[in-house]
Parts: sequence; structure tokens; C-alpha cells
Amino acid sequence: MTSQPIGFLDSGVGGLTVVKEALKQLPNESIVFLGDQARLPYGPRPTEEVAHFVQQIAGFLLDQHIKALVLACNTATAAALPILQAKLSIPVVGVIDSGSQTAVRVSTGQHIGVIATEGTIKSHAYQRAISNLSPNASIEGLACPEFVTVVEADKYHDEQTNQLVADQLRYFKTHPVDTLILGCTHFPLLADSIQAAMGPDVTLVDSGVETVSVIKQLLSEQHLLNTDSEAEQPKFYTTGDIDGFTAIGKDWLQVPDLDVTHVPVEHLKQYGDLASKETSYEA
Ligand code: DGL
Repeated sequence: MTSQPIGFLDSGVGGLTVVKEALKQLPNESIVFLGDQARLPYGPRPTEEVAHFVQQIAGFLLDQHIKALVLACNTATAAALPILQAKLSIPVVGVIDSGSQTAVRVSTGQHIGVIATEGTIKSHAYQRAISNLSPNASIEGLACPEFVTVVEADKYHDEQTNQLVADQLRYFKTHPVDTLILGCTHFPLLADSIQAAMGPDVTLVDSGVETVSVIKQLLSEQHLLNTDSEAEQPKFYTTGDIDGFTAIGKDWLQVPDLDVTHVPVEHLKQYGDLASKETSYEA
């Protein structure tokens, strides 16, 4: 059981920001990742539809015998975390609680900004999580869906992208914050542009870093950390184009090669919604 992989999911390449941290913090763990690029972006989709997609992907990952599941996507976390936690018997973590905890901890004046997809902003999931931890915190949410598009188009190094980011984040000139949560896992790829637009006094929070600490702690408490064998090479699946995924993955993870396989959406659809306390994976 302990040598089984940890599953990660996202709508696209954004979840690789969490995987990158997992490779650092959990070098002994095998990783299976699915990016649902064929159905991206998740941000504008209705909550129920995202929850449905996420359950299909979870079903696919359970078939890869995962021992824990990380929703490496804020939109998926906002739409489906409680559903998956209720239905699965393995540990399931999302990115919103961890990002909120970090922001409250590092924020000097409790003026916290969140940039995310429309779905995450509309869900008010960050507002709820932050208010629970810091009732007097002021929270400014801004949807930045175009950031997902430029990252997926492999344009995050482009000069025009700096301008787009600066234009979008001008909002914070009139709504100042001391801390900004990158509330979409695609956004750490734009961290340099975002920091330049916000200025050096604003602290950026990447929820992926904290999420991996949480999953590490959970696995340790449940005696699920892999102590038996070395990690296998990470396995990546995309419902989209292998070449596009591989190019961004190699650049972001700084590895010479990636093991990427295409999974047709039709295949994922076979999984449907999960039954309660799904136990189809082999322990
Ligand atoms: N990476 C996803 C997130 O963290 C969303 C991107 C999308 O809109 O699909 O919310």
C-alpha cells in the first residue's frame, strides 16, 4: 500500500505547480497526474459540471491504485472537495484551506487579495476559509481567467504577458492588499509578472507549497509514506495534446523528459460519478 502513487488532478498544466513541490518535499513518493486539457478551462463552467468531471478523473486515478488524492486545482477544490472526501476512503486534500492558512500566517495587516478563476471567486470559498481563520481580515477577490489561457498557450515567458498581468492587476492599486493568494494553480507560472505588477511589498502565496506539507503530514499520520521502495518515474496523463503538455511540463519541472499519455475524454466519461466510499482500487 505505501508504495502506491499519490494522484493529482487539474484542468490542465496548472497542477504541475503542485507536483513540482511534491517532487521536492516527497522524493520517495510515486506520482500520477491527470490534466483535463480537452475540457479546460474549468473556471467558467457550472459547479455541478466541474464536480462531475472531477469525480470521473478521481475514478480514473483510483484505477491507477492511488493511496491519496490531491485536487491540485482551486476550481475543482471549490466545486468538489467535500463530495470527494465524503465518498472516498483514501485521504483527499484540496488547495484552498492550505492557501488561506498560509496567507493569514504571512499577512502583516490582514489585507488579503485572491486572484483565481470565475468559479473559485464566485464560490466565495477563500472568503469563507480566511474569515474563519481571521475574522477581521479584509479580502479582495479578482477573477483573472485570461491568465489560464496564456499559461496553457505556453506564453508565460512572453513580453506581452507582463503587460496583460499588469493591466489586470491594476485593480489592486485602488484596493490595496499586503498579501496576494495565487488562487489558481496555473498562476505560479506567472509569479514573476505578478510580483512585478504588485510591487515588492506584496507577499505572494502559492497554495501548492502548503498543500504538499498537508498531504505529507496526513500520509505520515496514517503510516502511508513510502518507506519500502524508491519512487517510480512520475506518470502524466492529459485528455489534450501530448506535445503541448510535455513542452510546458519539461520547462516548468526542469526535467529532460516526461512520461505523458493521452487519455480520451470518452474514456474518463465511463467512470461517471463515484459511488459512496469507493473501494475499487486494490490495497
Ligand atoms: N488550475 C485551475 C485552478 O486552480 C483552473 C484553471 C481553469 O479555469 O481550468 O483553479
